Amino acid sequence: LTLCGVTVFIAYLLGSFPTGYIAVKQLKGIDIREVGSGSTGATNVLRTLGKGPGAFVLVLDSLKGALAIALGYWLFNFAASQNIIPPTVDVKLWQPWIVTLVGLAAILGHSKSIFLGFTGGKSVATSLGILLAMNWQVGLATAGVFAVVVAISRIVSLSSIAGAMAVSIFMLLLRQPLPYILFGIAGGLYVILRHRSNIERLIAGTEPKIGQNLSTEP
Ligand code: G3P
Repeated sequence: LTLCGVTVFIAYLLGSFPTGYIAVKQLKGIDIREVGSGSTGATNVLRTLGKGPGAFVLVLDSLKGALAIALGYWLFNFAASQNIIPPTVDVKLWQPWIVTLVGLAAILGHSKSIFLGFTGGKSVATSLGILLAMNWQVGLATAGVFAVVVAISRIVSLSSIAGAMAVSIFMLLLRQPLPYILFGIAGGLYVILRHRSNIERLIAGTEPKIGQNLSTEP
């Protein structure tokens, strides 16, 4: 149980790593939370610094999600191999639950970063990394939904929301274990909730497309 708690906390710390904030601070000397949407995510970095830094933050934020899941798997296997976990515990049964908790902790870390006074991004890139590490087919299918919606609408937030809605459906279709399906529902709902201001702008018709600037304050 202690090991579980430590792993989940490390995942939260990994998710908390403020890639977008550091990138914009280093390259432009400003606080990303005070520009554009106020989010520290790749989309707002794209808006603030352009394609290269945006892609860089997207990859790094995805990686930290994937790394958290890899760490969850590794620690659990290590604990099982060292008999830290009692042999009566069914490792195969419990592992997906731990991985799910680790994933949720990383998502929370990205949007409520301990390094940024519990502010952050909307956890889309981090969730993608988590999904790819949990089950790459689900990750790719979700990225596919995102890509199709972004190609049609040119609106990142709408694409993220569509992707978030699709995760649990893909988890079900690809017969994933129950905790992963629950992850899809909880993580998806959380990501959608993080897009509240985007949803308001989408309804008002003021949400910017890629390449457009945000006229309203975050
Ligand atoms: O990845 C977050 C994206 O869906 C929306 O970002 O900055 O437009 O609120 P933003």
